Amino acid sequence: MEYSTILVERADNFARITLNRPDKLNALNRQLLTELDHALDALAQETSIAALIITGSGEKAFAAGADISELQACFNPDDAQAGRSFAEFGQSVFNKIEDFGKPVIAAVNGFALGGGCELALACHLRFASDNAKFGQPEVNLGIIPGYGGTQRLTHIVGRGRAVELILTGAMVGARDAEQMGLVNDVVDFNHLQERAEEFVDTVSSKGQEAVSASLKAILFAADATAESGLAKEAELFGQTCTSDNFREGTAAFLEKRKANFSRS
Ligand code: COA
Repeated sequence: MEYSTILVERADNFARITLNRPDKLNALNRQLLTELDHALDALAQETSIAALIITGSGEKAFAAGADISELQACFNPDDAQAGRSFAEFGQSVFNKIEDFGKPVIAAVNGFALGGGCELALACHLRFASDNAKFGQPEVNLGIIPGYGGTQRLTHIVGRGRAVELILTGAMVGARDAEQMGLVNDVVDFNHLQERAEEFVDTVSSKGQEAVSASLKAILFAADATAESGLAKEAELFGQTCTSDNFREGTAAFLEKRKANFSRS
C-alpha cells in the first residue's frame, strides 16, 4: 500500500510512523487511519523491530484530533449508527496500537487533542516536547471522546482528572500533563526523538519475550479483578520461563557477564 498521509521509517531496532498532514495539524481523517491500520499490521510482522515510535510531522501538532470536516457527516437526527461506526473504526485502529505486542511510544511534538490525545493514550508511554498540549475538546463540538478517551484517560490519570479534562475540554501543557501522569517525560522539542530512541535502546537490550509479556500483563490489569490479574501474571510468567532468553538471562547473571539476548 502506498501511503500519502503517514511516513514509515525503519531503523536498526525500531520503526517510526509519522502522521503527515501538517497543513491540517495531522488531523486524523479516514485515509490516515486506514494507512495507520495497514502500517501497524505490516510492522507487527517484522521481528527486527523491538519498538515503535509514533509522532507527528511539523513543529505544531502531534494530531489535532479526528478530522472535523469528516466528523460533521456523522450528524443524523434519526440514527446514531453513523457516529457509532465512526467511533468504532478509530477504536479498532487504536486497539491495534495497544495490542502491538512491543512497546509503542508516542513522541508528542505539539497539539495532542481529541483523537490525537486518544492516539497518544493508546500508546504504551508518552514523551512530550515542552510545547505539547493535551486535551479532549469534544465537548466543545457537542460530542464525547469516541476513540477510547473516556476509558484510557480514566485509567491513566484517574476519574477526577478525566472528568475535569473531558467536561471542560480544557488544554493542559506538557508539564501539567506530566504531573498528572499523562506524560512520562518532557524534553526540549529538539531532543524529543532522541528521548524516545533512548527508551527504545533500553528496552531492545532486554529479553523480548519478557518485554511483550510485561506489556500484556500490565494492559490486562485495566479490566481485571485482583484474582484474574494475578492468574494472568502467573500464566505469562510461566511462558517467559520457557524462553531461551530466560535461560540466557539467568546464566549471564550467575556467570557475572552481560546477557546476550536474541531478538527473534
Ligand atoms: N480537523 C480538521 N481540520 C483541522 C483540525 C481538525 N481536528 N484541527 C485543525 N485543522 C485544520 C484547520 O481547519 C486549518 O485548516 P485550514 O488552514 O485549511 O483552514 C489548519 O488545520 C490549521 O489549524 P488552525 O485552526 O488554523 O490553527 P490554530 O493554530 O489557529 O489553532 C488548534 C490550533 C489546534 C487550537 C485548532 O486548530 C483546533 O482547535 N483544532 C480542533 C481541535 C479539536 O477540536 N479536536 C477534536 C476533534 S474531535
